Amino acid sequence: MYMKGIILAGGAGSRLYPLTLVASKQLQPVYDKPMVYYPLTTLLENGVREFCLISTPQDLPRFRQLLGDGTSLGVTIEYREQPKPAGIAQAFLIAETFIGGDPVALILGDNLFYGGDSFLQAFKDFRTGATIFGYQVDDAERYGVVEFDAAGKAVSIEEKPISPRSNYAVPGLYLYDDQVVAITRALEPSPRGELEITDVNKEYLRRGALRVWRLSRGFAWLDAGTSSSLHDASAYVQTIEKRQGIKIGCPEEAAFRQGFLDLERLRLTVSRLPSCEYRAYLEKVVKESGASRAT
Ligand code: TTP
Repeated sequence: MYMKGIILAGGAGSRLYPLTLVASKQLQPVYDKPMVYYPLTTLLENGVREFCLISTPQDLPRFRQLLGDGTSLGVTIEYREQPKPAGIAQAFLIAETFIGGDPVALILGDNLFYGGDSFLQAFKDFRTGATIFGYQVDDAERYGVVEFDAAGKAVSIEEKPISPRSNYAVPGLYLYDDQVVAITRALEPSPRGELEITDVNKEYLRRGALRVWRLSRGFAWLDAGTSSSLHDASAYVQTIEKRQGIKIGCPEEAAFRQGFLDLERLRLTVSRLPSCEYRAYLEKVVKESGASRAT
């Protein structure tokens, strides 16, 4: 089903201090690209064509400078401010007019996903309610944790539990129908003063409208919120890219493969890039697809 996309790229980024004194977390490099390229690409690969990027008043101009209005990708990108980091779910109130009655995917600007096509099926199958994912981790107490019954049905979700009931954490990609705005509006802030995404998911669960897909073992989910995990994410991307000769998190390529950009338009975009490895990679994409079309 066609969905709009919200990229949430605000927050304090305090764990990355002093890196985040002058540039927000989601603008930091993950190997060879700004972090936000990765979640943007994930949504593009799943057919999202209308975007709303939310960040702090201070950082928003930088994102605008980086991504523009989306024309160079054949998509639209709007920008909205989050004055204070008052919770992930606040995104739905900030983006209410953007959502405007359509289903919406929310992705966190510091989450990197790679491998498999689990998301594709989840996007395709989405009709109503909410769809979230479960991913096996070693340190579930740091995340929202989902518990399943013997039949594999989700029975509880808890935010950062002291004793997690499972080791399935909920990654930062969530799909919702338009009820999400009303549900968020009815929420009380949590003891830490935030509108919690876990509370939104709990409400869908209570209504019997929450679907949880378990991501397979081979799938990679990295979040890049600490110096060490940022370094790990860079090392991971470098390893895959060097080994396979492909790029992870390349929005121009994803937009082209989705048909949002035709070959001519991609050529034009590439011709505007400075001479660099990124350009050389896109030139290879252009050349290979030109060749495959000629045969
Ligand atoms: P966190 O990593 O939990 O918080 P943070 O980015 O503020 O970092 P730190 O804890 O080091 O201060 O946030 C997860 C993601 O959600 C991250 O991409 C920032 C984003 N976010 C917002 O944009 N607004 C918010 O109100 C919150 C809570 C998070």
